[in-house]
Amino acid sequence: MAESIIINKKLSKEEFYQSLVPQIKVLIEGETDLIANMANVSAVLKEAMNWLWVGFYIVKDNQLVLGPFQGPLACTRIEYDKGVCGKAWSTKTTLIVPDVDNFPGHIACSSLSKSEIVIPAVVKNEVKFVLDIDSETIGNFDETDRKYLEMIVAKLASVY
Ligand code: SME
Repeated sequence: MAESIIINKKLSKEEFYQSLVPQIKVLIEGETDLIANMANVSAVLKEAMNWLWVGFYIVKDNQLVLGPFQGPLACTRIEYDKGVCGKAWSTKTTLIVPDVDNFPGHIACSSLSKSEIVIPAVVKNEVKFVLDIDSETIGNFDETDRKYLEMIVAKLASVY
């Protein structure tokens, strides 16, 4: 497997993802264990993007249960349809929240979080896990993030 990821922070966001995503795909292809891959993906994204929190919640017994993550302490369980993560689960779509204070029912794990994106892994019309990312900046996530993060989640979900 790859032992390091090359990160060039001078690129535009689009170019940056174009360089990062193939490296993440190589990393994932070398390992079949989903938890191990989630752990490395959260580490790589946190280091590359310097977001506040990057991690996974996995569907278990009809709840989202905290999985591998990088960042401050987080809540361990989220109910169906609750918070941004629960809504991404129930709607089976990526949610971009420019200002978490304007999202009814947002679950604040850290008061530093200002914006958020949640990408659900949908396999055969069923959500298996979500990738949740928080930023300390309002409006930090856009369609470019959605496009490339959905590619990473699809690659992770290919083990199902
Ligand atoms: N804000 C999320 C909860 C998880 S933490 O951000 C890590 C939500 O509203 O679902």
